[in-house]
Amino acid sequence: MRFDNQWTQAILRRVRDLTPGIREFTLAPEGGASPYPTGAHVVLRVIVDGKQDLRRYSLVGEQPMDGCYRIAVKREDPGRGGSRYMWSLPEGARIELAPPDSFFQLSRDASEYLLIAGGIGITPIRGMATALLRRGAKFRMLYGGRTREEMAYLGELEVELGDRLAVFPDDQGVRMDLAAEFARLAPDAEVYVCGPLGLLEAVKRAWAATGRPRAKLVFETFGSSGRFASEPFTVRVPRLGVEVQVPANTSMLDALEAAGVGVLYDCRRGECGLCAMDVLAVEGTMDHRDVFFSDHEHEENRKVCACVSRVAGGSITVDPAFRGDAGLQPGKSALWPSAIPAAE
Ligand code: FES
Repeated sequence: MRFDNQWTQAILRRVRDLTPGIREFTLAPEGGASPYPTGAHVVLRVIVDGKQDLRRYSLVGEQPMDGCYRIAVKREDPGRGGSRYMWSLPEGARIELAPPDSFFQLSRDASEYLLIAGGIGITPIRGMATALLRRGAKFRMLYGGRTREEMAYLGELEVELGDRLAVFPDDQGVRMDLAAEFARLAPDAEVYVCGPLGLLEAVKRAWAATGRPRAKLVFETFGSSGRFASEPFTVRVPRLGVEVQVPANTSMLDALEAAGVGVLYDCRRGECGLCAMDVLAVEGTMDHRDVFFSDHEHEENRKVCACVSRVAGGSITVDPAFRGDAGLQPGKSALWPSAIPAAE
């Protein structure tokens, strides 16, 4: 593991409930927190089902506060277990973390920015808003959630951002008009979005329809959300004579790895496509949860990203691309250390 020597002990200095389902954790690492780029994350060692595992959480705020990092974790009871572990920690608990890193950095050279956050996707966007405000940049922020009460940091954002902030609670029936928002942006404007899959897909479609450069749309996903609730299903690999049950709280990729099937992966968030497998047959309904393949490719059902996508009510038969000839061992990432699940 590339950062074996970089793990730091941290004390959980403070726990604060932001909403009924989102809790903020203030972590004081030994030696103090390091500055980090806006949009960065930290990796924490968590315990899931009695075993050590890793989870990546976006850092809240533009910079450390009083020598501490802040993260916010949404409790996902049907999730993979990382959030349940975090929510079980009392103030004063010790936890190991790796230094901040970022795959979601805010540029400095656009004349205008649009930030879009959905649900817990607010965590990296929160610091971007502060950074743009401090720079005096031209920007707006769109923030959606189920209800106002479930939208973390909403009150403080309304005070800080004033009319730069537009709020879209689902229960009030207010929807983002993405086409109108994009139409009024400057030609070199950049859009940063973090939220659930449905929001990301809508943003990608609306952005593509504008004909603007793809590189000006920057997004980060939480690869665990889909169109259907997660439920158990069966995955078969006829070439290897393998049939594996995938529990509701486990990814297809993890289930295949546990069965000794070599699978290449990197992001584990449905973004890079490295884990894509050929689909030979599907019984039930495919729930494609990646943002790597297009809508058209999802409809074709010929490829599946095993790290995030699932089947609702049935089984899938696949052929993994990995054939053991790349010098990799089953269960190892090709591109450590980004191969860490995002928060769930
Ligand atoms: S899409 Fe990147 S590992 Fe699955």
